Amino acid sequence: MKPKAIYPGTFDPFTNGHLDVLERALNIFEEVIVVIAENVQKHSLFTIDERSVMISEVVGDYAGVSVEVLHSGLLADYARQVGARAIVRGVRQVKDFEYEFQMSLLNRHLYPEVTTVFLMPNVKYTYVASSIIREVAMLGGDVSKFVHPCVLEMLHQKRDEKKATKL
Ligand code: PNS
Repeated sequence: MKPKAIYPGTFDPFTNGHLDVLERALNIFEEVIVVIAENVQKHSLFTIDERSVMISEVVGDYAGVSVEVLHSGLLADYARQVGARAIVRGVRQVKDFEYEFQMSLLNRHLYPEVTTVFLMPNVKYTYVASSIIREVAMLGGDVSKFVHPCVLEMLHQKRDEKKATKL
């Protein structure tokens, strides 16, 4: 029997690199819950509810995927609550690893039965990070190759809203 996993992240915004990791996770796990959480070290462009709408639209047709929001509390507690024994994280570069290593061990300390599984997206997404997509999109650059059309639309809306509030 293929077990259940959670795939947490800030997903601000959800990129094609995230989708690639999710698809790989679905080859291993029967059920994957995409968990949108806040990272205390990051200031987000989209609200957590906007990201929930965004990801639900992108993964709408995928069997075995659900989208949840972690409004507060620890991810490890959430994993325990839903009975997930695996946390999926995408790693693109070696520099991601130190932070991932810390989080993985802390989550295991908090919930010993959980294992973090690191998946590498297709090499074409190596340089696709939400932070750079946000920046380029807000400055008017074309990011259509890196995000789903509905994410692109939401980025454009956000850029227009920001422009309007500056006028
Ligand atoms: O996409 P990110 O920003 O790298 O994701 C980080 C995230 C959201 C998975 C992490 O900050 C997290 O798990 N936040 C929830 C609160 C929590 O459990 N923090 C302790 C992690 S060891």
